[in-house]
Amino acid sequence: KSQQPYQIYLEPGELARAAARRWVELARESIRARNSFHVALAGGSTPKPVYQLLQQEELEWDKIHLYWGDERDVPADHPESNYLMVKEALIDHVPIPNDNVHPIRVEADIEKSVEEYRRVLERVHRSPDGFPCFDLVMLGMGDDGHIASLFPDSSALTVANTPAVSVYVEKLNSWRVTLTYPVLNAARNLMLLVSGESKAPVVAQVLGGDGDERYPVQKLAPQGRVEWYLDQAAASQLPEA
Ligand code: 6PG
Repeated sequence: KSQQPYQIYLEPGELARAAARRWVELARESIRARNSFHVALAGGSTPKPVYQLLQQEELEWDKIHLYWGDERDVPADHPESNYLMVKEALIDHVPIPNDNVHPIRVEADIEKSVEEYRRVLERVHRSPDGFPCFDLVMLGMGDDGHIASLFPDSSALTVANTPAVSVYVEKLNSWRVTLTYPVLNAARNLMLLVSGESKAPVVAQVLGGDGDERYPVQKLAPQGRVEWYLDQAAASQLPEA
């Protein structure tokens, strides 16, 4: 049984408000302690309302650096782009310097994109084993238990010698660039945002199951604090607390 703490919120709106409050708390804590806040953002749909809520927050945006946990193999102005989603939900509405925004720039040669992102990641504090140590990594989770672009049966699941890789995702028939487990595990804080009925079986296995490791999310071995933000639908198959 996993010891990872989790909070269940009635519905997605409440989950987003709680996650936004925590994001602000962690940003202020990190700026107080290290005069900066380096955060790897999640793509997909669940985190979008969190980013929209952050628009109203009084924060020292000049000390906040945004990175991405993964990116699709599309240009920055493509509807599928995780960067574009955050740009529209947050970046365009807050006074964050351009130099503080570090997207994964996916180009025709995806290996070049990975090389460039590895260099960008060198701006982040190092963990004891030499990996980027983000103050916060936000993750969504797919209904197959993938996190970032670490999908079941993918070659990226065993990568432990580099902070970012390109990976071909069979089921999506598309390439992705993703952070690897050593970076997710090194984060001072990890927030998982999971909403919707389709995620309930995986949530039950991870947080209340028999410990069998069936999903990529279960390969996480976080060195920092982990918090799960679930809505009631995603938590609906958890054994009664
Ligand atoms: C992406 C995300 C991905 C996402 C999950 C959950 O690029 O899509 O990084 O890992 O977090 O697929 O997505 P939802 O939040 O939309 O369910």
